[in-house]
Amino acid sequence: MASTHGAEVLVASNRGPVSYELREDGSLHAKRGGGGLVSGLSAIGPDANALWVCAALSDADREAVRRGGRRLSEDATGGQQVRMIDIDATVFSDAYNGIANSVLWFVHHMLYQTPLEPVLDAEFRRQWASYEAYNRAFAEALAEEAAQGAAVVVQDYHLALAPRMLRELRPDLRIGHFSHTPWAPPDYFRLLPDDIAAELLGGILGADRAGFLTQRWADAFTACCEAVLGADAVSGTRIGVHGLGADADFLRQRAHRPDVDERMTALRTEIGTAPDGKARRTIVRVDRTELSKNIVRGLLAYRQLLDDHPEWRERVVHVAFAYPSRQDLAVYRDYTAEVQRVAQEINSAYGTPGWTPVVLHVKDDFARSLAAYRLADVALVNPIRDGMNLVAKEVPVVSDEGCALVLSREAGAYEELGEDAVTVNPYDITGTAHALHQALTLPAGERAERTKRLTAAATALPPAQWFLDQLHALED
Ligand code: F6P
Repeated sequence: MASTHGAEVLVASNRGPVSYELREDGSLHAKRGGGGLVSGLSAIGPDANALWVCAALSDADREAVRRGGRRLSEDATGGQQVRMIDIDATVFSDAYNGIANSVLWFVHHMLYQTPLEPVLDAEFRRQWASYEAYNRAFAEALAEEAAQGAAVVVQDYHLALAPRMLRELRPDLRIGHFSHTPWAPPDYFRLLPDDIAAELLGGILGADRAGFLTQRWADAFTACCEAVLGADAVSGTRIGVHGLGADADFLRQRAHRPDVDERMTALRTEIGTAPDGKARRTIVRVDRTELSKNIVRGLLAYRQLLDDHPEWRERVVHVAFAYPSRQDLAVYRDYTAEVQRVAQEINSAYGTPGWTPVVLHVKDDFARSLAAYRLADVALVNPIRDGMNLVAKEVPVVSDEGCALVLSREAGAYEELGEDAVTVNPYDITGTAHALHQALTLPAGERAERTKRLTAAATALPPAQWFLDQLHALED
C-alpha cells in the first residue's frame, strides 16, 4: 500500500540509469547511462520526489542491490533516486532474452524467418511465466513505492503487463505506458497465441494512457486491440504520440570537447585523401549491431554503389560503427560476424593500397560516434523497422558541413524527416545504392537547406519536453 512518504513521479524501465561492474578486488564500479529518460527526469528537478525503478541486469547489479539495499547510492546515480529490483537471474534471463528480446522485439520489428520461426511451444510458455513474474515484480515494487495518486510512467515492451497488474494493486495511481519500439500490424501481431496477444494488449490497456513514438505505431496498436479484443477495447485508455527528438544543446556541446576532436583527427587519417588530393567523402552509419538496423544490406548497397558508379572508388569511404548489443543471443552474435565478414569482403575486393572502402569499428565509443557525425557527408539510416531512430535526428544537428540523410521509410523518424531526406525501401539494395549516389551528389546549397530543416524537425521535441508532455497528459 502507499506510504505517506512515497514517490510522486515514478519511472519504470528494464534498463536503469546506472549499471555496475564488479572489479577483481571486490569493489563495485558504477557507470551512468544517458538517453531521453535521464534528461526527462533531470528536467523535473530534485524537488519532484521522483523514483526510477529498474531491473538488476547482471551479477554486478545484483551485488550492488544486495550491498545497498532499497536505494542505490546517490553518488552512483548522480543524485537520482533509484530502486533496482533484484530479480532471480533465471527469471530475468527468460523474461529479457527469452520473451522480450527474442519474441516481442521480433514481432514488433517483424524479424522472423516465418517458415521456421517462431516456435511457440511449451518452452515458450515456461518463459512466458517468467515474463509475467518479472512484470509482477515491477508492479509490486511500484505499488509499494508510489504516493497516493502518484504518476507512474512504464516503459516499453519489457513491461507490457505491468500497467494492468499495477492498476489492480493501486487503482488510485495515474499510469502511463510508453512504447519505444514500432508496433506490429495485426496480421503479424497475431503470430502470437491468442491468449498471449490478449494479455499483452490488455496489460497496456491497464494504463490510463498509452504513448507511442509515431502515429503509425499508435494506429497499429489500436488496430491490434480491435482485431484481438474487439471494437471498443481501447475506449478506456487514451492514446498519445510523442516523437522523441534529439537533445541539441547537449549534443553540440559534447561534440566539441577535446576527446571528440582527437577522434576526428584519427578518423581523418583512416579515411585518407583521394588521389586528386581532395578530402574523401564519407557515408556514416552508427548503430547497435541490431538485426533491425539492416547493416548488412547497407554494406551491400555501398558495394552496389561502387559497381554502378566506379567514379566513387577511391573518393568515398563508408564509416560504419556497429556496437555490440544483446550478445547473449546467438542470432546477434552471428549477425555481428556477418557484418564483419561483408565489410572485409568489400575491402578485399575493392580496396587499394591507399584506400580502405569500409572503415568498420565495433567497439562502443561515444566520442568517436560524435566525431563521425561531425565528419558525415551522408548519414545512412536504413533500418528494416525502427521505433524512431535517433541517429537520423542527431547527425544533422552535429554535422560540421551539413549532411544528406538517406533514410528508410520504415523508421519512425521518417514521419518527421521524410520530406528532407533521400528515402529508401530498406530491402531494395539497388534503390539504396541509387539513393547513396543521389545523396553524395546533392548540390551544396540544397544540402545546407535540407540540413537546416532536418535539424529543426529533429529537435522539435527535446527529451526533457518529451517527458514533461507525457506527465502533463497524465494529469489531464
Ligand atoms: O525500445 C528499444 C530499446 O529498449 C531502447 O530503449 C534502447 O535503445 C534499446 O532498445 C537497447 O536495448 P537493450 O536495453 O536491450 O540494450
